[in-house]
Amino acid sequence: MHSIDTQLFRKTFGALSTGVTVITTLDAQAERFGVTANSFTSVSLDPPLVLWSQSSTSRSHAAFRDSDRFVIHILADDQSPISDRFARSGGDKFVGLDIEDGIEGLPIIRGCAAYLECRKIAAYPGGDHVIFLGHVEHLVRHDREPLVYKNGQYLPTAGAPALSQAAA
Ligand SMILES: Cc1cc2nc3c(=O)[nH]c(=O)nc-3n(C[C@H](O)[C@H](O)[C@H](O)COP(=O)(O)O)c2cc1C
Repeated sequence: MHSIDTQLFRKTFGALSTGVTVITTLDAQAERFGVTANSFTSVSLDPPLVLWSQSSTSRSHAAFRDSDRFVIHILADDQSPISDRFARSGGDKFVGLDIEDGIEGLPIIRGCAAYLECRKIAAYPGGDHVIFLGHVEHLVRHDREPLVYKNGQYLPTAGAPALSQAAA
């Protein structure tokens, strides 16, 4: 078997444009956690299932591993600062954000293009990541354009002069 260069692996996936999500949860002490993730995808329509994968070395991994819920936020095109904030490791990433309480008090970030409130129904090992499968219990789609990520950068929004570089 050929070994795959990690940089080339990352660069190759840069050819795939994706949306950008922030995924939030609460731990048993009701502390809020969130990460930026573009590994999110839909899996099944009936029942409505989605998945995303998280690095098992993320500081928030224990919170997501132990929680039975998460909320996926599909970011709007003016929310690259929120993507950058949640892509930095550790700390309280929610300070100063406009937040509302979702099912079982999970934090919902206002202003996104859509959000999906999910019950975690499975977690599968996936190399250095863990794949979380969620059953969508409630979702909201707002009339906002999504943030798009490609080649390690956010694509410019309508009228924006330049690309902004993502934090990670
Ligand atoms: C656009 C983008 C997409 C990302 N997608 C993922 C992902 O799908 N899974 C993941 O584990 N980390 C992903 N990351 C990296 C995490 O957001 C980053 O490691 C973060 O610091 C984790 O936070 P934590 O250490 O506080 O848990 C992504 C970062 C960016 C900028």
